[in-house]
Amino acid sequence: MLRFRPEGILGSMIFVLLGTGCSLFLSNVSSLAEDNSLAIQEKTSVGEDLTIQEKASKIFGEAIGNDNSGEVYTWGLTAKYTGPEKLFSGEGKFKNLFNFLQAIRWYDPKHYYQSIDSVKGEFAGEECIVCHRIQTPGIVNDWERSSHSKPAKTASMDLYMKVTCDKCHGNDHTKLKMPDYTVCAECHALQVDQHKNGGPGSHVHSFHLQVEEQAMIINTPAEELFGCAQCHGIAENRCDGCHTRHRFSSVEARKPETCGICHLGIEHYDYEVWLDSYHGRIYQAEGNEWNWNRSIKDWKKPVHEGQLPVPRTPTCAYCHMPEGNHDILNASTEFTYMGSSQVDRGAKKHEKKRNAWIKVCKNCHSSNFARDQLSAMDDIVNLNFAKVREAYNIIIDLYDEGILDPMPEGLAPDWQGHSIFSLLPEGETRVYNVSNIERLFFEMATYQITNVYKAAAHSSMENHSYSRGGAIPMHRKLIAIKAEASRLKRMARLEKAMDIEHVPFKFWSQGEYTDLLKGKNRKEGDVLPKSECLHNDQVDCLAD
Ligand code: HEC
Ligand code: HEC
Ligand code: HEC
Ligand code: HEC
Ligand code: HEC
Ligand code: HEC
Ligand code: HEC
Ligand code: HEC
Repeated sequence: MLRFRPEGILGSMIFVLLGTGCSLFLSNVSSLAEDNSLAIQEKTSVGEDLTIQEKASKIFGEAIGNDNSGEVYTWGLTAKYTGPEKLFSGEGKFKNLFNFLQAIRWYDPKHYYQSIDSVKGEFAGEECIVCHRIQTPGIVNDWERSSHSKPAKTASMDLYMKVTCDKCHGNDHTKLKMPDYTVCAECHALQVDQHKNGGPGSHVHSFHLQVEEQAMIINTPAEELFGCAQCHGIAENRCDGCHTRHRFSSVEARKPETCGICHLGIEHYDYEVWLDSYHGRIYQAEGNEWNWNRSIKDWKKPVHEGQLPVPRTPTCAYCHMPEGNHDILNASTEFTYMGSSQVDRGAKKHEKKRNAWIKVCKNCHSSNFARDQLSAMDDIVNLNFAKVREAYNIIIDLYDEGILDPMPEGLAPDWQGHSIFSLLPEGETRVYNVSNIERLFFEMATYQITNVYKAAAHSSMENHSYSRGGAIPMHRKLIAIKAEASRLKRMARLEKAMDIEHVPFKFWSQGEYTDLLKGKNRKEGDVLPKSECLHNDQVDCLAD
């Protein structure tokens, strides 16, 4: 039998990267070796053991060094990866597998923050301010503009007082605290209780459950998890996500930009699609003339002569935090992982929620108009899921036939150390370390269908048709999936006809980056028993 050896063909060619311009061309290694007398050989001879750094060093005449040396390396090719200086271990069942960069201490301060001890002593609130007016003047300026700088009292407080620095950070400068929501709870019990009572999908579960206990990201290195930890950590652990420190302003939180810090981009274009709706455009055109000082529940009240108008289109908080409710899921019909699972939100089963939404719209529209709009959302979402199923059907078929390129066994192992197909329930949801077609499906099911839902929910006709995750980009993805499936099938037929047994290319399972994936280094017993789960009542904390 003829064995197809990828190295044989690839080995005779090498990408030669020219350091000066951006030109990139293919060149035959043997002619290159002649012309430039470079000692780059075919893989089968001496060159086989050369690392990419060694090859690049010869091409560019650049010394090999560590990537943290401060030297400039052309495309990083002669650099060696050194890894973060210090890593913090995660918590819970996966703590032996899961690491964070040390900056995690600002995003989960309760578990990771450690006070500085360069300033010694205990100080009264006013002393903090005197010294910090010089040390960190921006912070003191913000604080002075906040209601925390004026003597006042909330329902959970006994006395009127100024909320000076020490009330949140403590008095002992060698034992400073970085406040998470438990600190705010002392004086704002109502908002913290609402926050804490949110179910899965609400802000309070965004870090421990969705990041630390989400198996899909266990395989990735800490550097890639940092962004996840920032957004998800602020959303769960801290209260300054929507009213930023040290201004702590309700006005800021009522505006949509505040949600737009996290609710944007390819997985969740919430902010963008809302901006592209009539609601968002009118806000952009005249929002600066509106009175943001009123509580949301008072936006319906009459505006008297001489007063500023209240917002005439709804913002995120208006619809999702009616009456100022800090349980962010209070208005949602069902938690569907950003809309990646299908549910008919207009079904009889969800009538109560639907009626509540219509009541929100009815402040400015007729209920007839609102019902039609929301029911259009249901129809648009349902239709688009037919595309997801069509795609899945094609891909699962390729898997059954054994002709994915590569099949799971040809990839680096998943975080469990297994080779399970990513689109099976026990498989790992993967963005990387999958075949091209699985990745295309991931994009359709996570980046696109979710945004069809978001655009339809937020009345952005442009986005549920054409842009971002709309219907037409979904068509494109379905075609891309079919084209890839067709190529795989035709290739499989050819190989069969020619009696070629294809061995997956090694680059699918090996490489400088790929070797960093944690599944490769899995050890027996490094996943703790389920009892160690931080949320052992949740399905997301995977079984042993
Ligand atoms: C004698 C001056 C002085 C006084 C008084 C003082 N601080 Fe500081 N504080 C500093 C300095 C200096 C730093 C370090 C600033 C830096 O890292 O740039 C600091 C840093 C901090 C930090 C940041 C800690 C970190 O990990 O980065 C906090 C929070 C803080 N102070 C709070 C307080 C509070 C609360 C009080 C009153 C109880 C207070 N400070 C009183 C001088 C002072
Ligand atoms: C209402 C509570 C509250 C008060 C009052 C407060 N802070 Fe903070 N502070 C926070 C929060 C929340 C953070 C962010 C915590 C984190 O990053 O985990 C923070 C972070 C900090 C930091 C470190 C982060 C940075 O941006 O540098 C410093 C320094 C700081 N505060 C100084 C002060 C000073 C000085 C005062 C008094 C003028 C003060 N704080 C009053 C809540 C408070
Ligand atoms: C020692 C008590 C105390 C602590 C701790 C405290 N606050 Fe406050 N807070 C107050 C008081 C008093 C007011 C002013 C009275 C009011 O608006 O209800 C206030 C007002 C506010 C407001 C409304 C401001 C506005 O513009 O309407 C926000 C938002 C706020 N606090 C957020 C926080 C956050 C977030 C934390 C924790 C990081 C926190 N507070 C910690 C006492 C506290
Ligand atoms: C600091 C980042 C951050 C900010 C600011 C933020 N969110 Fe979120 N939000 C998240 C994260 C992360 C989740 C996912 C929570 C989870 O799955 O547990 C989320 C979840 C939600 C959900 C539930 C949807 C779902 O699929 O879980 C809604 C609704 C929501 N946010 C609305 C808002 C609104 C409205 C604002 C502004 C008033 C806002 N958020 C501000 C990060 C943020
Ligand atoms: C998702 C955005 C968001 C987050 C996160 C958030 N808030 Fe708020 N907060 C708001 C909005 C919006 C308002 C204004 C509500 C209104 O107008 O009724 C508000 C208002 C407040 C007020 C003033 C209430 C009043 O009646 O004047 C307090 C106090 C407050 N928040 C505390 C907190 C605390 C404590 C946390 C942390 C558990 C927190 N907030 C986290 C959006 C947020
Ligand atoms: C006119 C009211 C309205 C406004 C304004 C609005 N939304 Fe929504 N939003 C909806 C509706 C309706 C849904 C569908 C919710 C359902 O039926 O569960 C939704 C869904 C969502 C979801 C998914 C929630 C889930 O449980 O699936 C998120 C996240 C979200 N919106 C964020 C935002 C953000 C961020 C903004 C501001 C940029 C915003 N929304 C503005 C009405 C609104
Ligand atoms: C820019 C802020 C941001 C970053 C960075 C971010 N997320 Fe999220 N994530 C969100 C928001 C906001 C939601 C909720 C969105 C919604 O429902 O529309 C969310 C939702 C999720 C969900 C689904 C749960 C839900 O509520 O729908 C998971 C799981 C998740 N994120 C994991 C991650 C991982 C893993 C990373 C890093 C690779 C990451 N996130 C990075 C903001 C962020
Ligand atoms: C605070 C007032 C307000 C609320 C609440 C509100 N809207 Fe609107 N909406 C407006 C205004 C004003 C316009 C612009 C009217 C126009 O296009 O002539 C608008 C425009 C629209 C449009 C585009 C106009 C059209 O004819 O197609 C849609 C769709 C829409 N809203 C749906 C909703 C839905 C659904 C809800 C509830 C989930 C809602 N709105 C809640 C004020 C509001």
